[in-house]
Amino acid sequence: MKQRENFGSKLGIIMATAGSALGLGNIYRFPCEAGANGGGAFLIVYLAVALLVGTTLMLSEFIIGRRSRSNPIGAFRALEGKKNGWMAIGWLGVVCAFLILAFYTTVAGWTLGYLGKAAANHFEGQDLAQIQVQFSSFTTHPWLPIVCQLAFLALTAVVVARGVKDGIEKWSKILMPLLLVIMVVLCIKSLTLPGASQGMSFFFKPDFSKINGDVLISALGQSFFSLSIGMGALITYGSYIGAKDNMVSSSVSVVLADTLVAILAGIIIFPAAFSFGIKPEAGASLVFTTLPMVFQQMTGGYFFCLIFFVLLVIATLTSTISLLEVIVAATTEEMHLSRTKAAILGTVVTAVIGLLATLSFRTGSPLHINGKIFFDLLDSVTALYLMPLGGLFIVLFVGWRMKKADAIDELTNGGTLRIGIRKVIYYLIRYMAPVAILVIFISQLLQ
Ligand code: PHE
Repeated sequence: MKQRENFGSKLGIIMATAGSALGLGNIYRFPCEAGANGGGAFLIVYLAVALLVGTTLMLSEFIIGRRSRSNPIGAFRALEGKKNGWMAIGWLGVVCAFLILAFYTTVAGWTLGYLGKAAANHFEGQDLAQIQVQFSSFTTHPWLPIVCQLAFLALTAVVVARGVKDGIEKWSKILMPLLLVIMVVLCIKSLTLPGASQGMSFFFKPDFSKINGDVLISALGQSFFSLSIGMGALITYGSYIGAKDNMVSSSVSVVLADTLVAILAGIIIFPAAFSFGIKPEAGASLVFTTLPMVFQQMTGGYFFCLIFFVLLVIATLTSTISLLEVIVAATTEEMHLSRTKAAILGTVVTAVIGLLATLSFRTGSPLHINGKIFFDLLDSVTALYLMPLGGLFIVLFVGWRMKKADAIDELTNGGTLRIGIRKVIYYLIRYMAPVAILVIFISQLLQ
C-alpha cells in the first residue's frame, strides 16, 4: 500500500488548518458580508454559528478524514462502501473546490496586483476618488487581473505539487502569526482616525430588528466559507492527522483564531470606512479602497502597506493550497495520476472557470445571470447552498450513520484521551449542528 503523508506535529495541523481557514474569507469577504447585512446584527449571528456549528463541523470532517485516511470521495467509499449514495458528498466537495478556487483566485489575483501597487507606491497622496478609480480600472483592465489570477494559480500549483508537508506546513507556521501582529497595528491606527467610533458602533451594536432570513443564511455561509468547512477540505487535511494528535483542541484553536482575525478585520475596516466616507455596503471595493486610505494616514505607511499585502498574499495562498489539495488528493487517489499531473489538470480546469469570474467584473460584460455577475453567482452558489448542504450531510453522517463507538474512538484517540467534554461534542454533532443548519435553511426559504 502507498504510504500516505502525515502532518509532522500537532502545531503542524493547527497551522495548516489555520492556513486554510485564514484568508480572503476573513479579510475581504467578512467585511463585505457584515457591511451588507447590518454590521452588528450580522456579527452576533456569525459568532454563534461559527463557534457552535463551525467547531462541531470541523471536528466531524477531521473524524471522517482520519478514520478513512482518504480524500473526500474515497473517504465515504472507505467508510460506507460504493452502494449507497454517501460518496456523492465527496463528489460535491470536489466540485465545490473547483468552483470556489475559480472565483477565489480572482480576488487572490487582485491581492497580487495590489502588492505590486504597494511596492510601486501608487497610493501616496491620492484622494479617495482617485483610489476608487484605481480599483475599478485595475479590476476591469483588459489583461492585468487575468495575468495576476493565472500567476496566483501557478504559484498554488507549484506548492501543491511538492507535497503536503514541505509545502503547506512550512509556510503557515512562520507567517500566520506575523499577519496577526500587523493586523493589530492596523486596528490601533484605524481606531484613532476621526469619526472611528461610528464605525465601531455599526460593527458592534447589533440592531436585532435587522436579523432576518437573509442575515441568517449569509452568516451561516460566511462561517462555512471562512472556516473552510462543508466541502471536504478538512476531510482531506484530517486524513493527514496523526493517530495521537488531539483533534478537539486543534479545532477549537483554529475556530478561535479564525474568528479573531475576522473581528480584527472588522475593527480595521469599519472605523476607517466611516472615517473616510466609504459606505459599509460598498462590496467588492470596500477593502481595496479602505486599506490604502488607512496606510496613507500612517507614518511608515509605505512600509506597512507593503508588508500587509505580502502577508495577505501568503494567507490567501495557504487557502488556495488547501482548495487545490482537495482536487489533487481526489485525482491522485481516484484516477491514479501523479501529484504533478493532478496539480496541472486541476489548475487548467480551474483557470477556465476562473477567467470567466474575473472577466465578469467588466462593465457591459455579458457574464450576467439573473442580474448577478458570474463571480457573485459562484460565490453564492458555493457559500450559501453547496457548503451548508455538504455540511449538513457531514454532521448527519458522523452523528447518525457512523457507529457511535467509532466516532467516540476518533474523538478520544482510541480511548487514550478523557471522554468528558468530548461526549457533549458528540451530541452537539448529532443534534445541535443539523438542527441549526436546517432551521437557517428553512427560515430563508420561508422568507
Ligand atoms: N477559508 C478560506 C478563507 O477564509 C477559504 C476556503 C474555503 C478555503 C473553502 C478552503 C475551502 O479565505
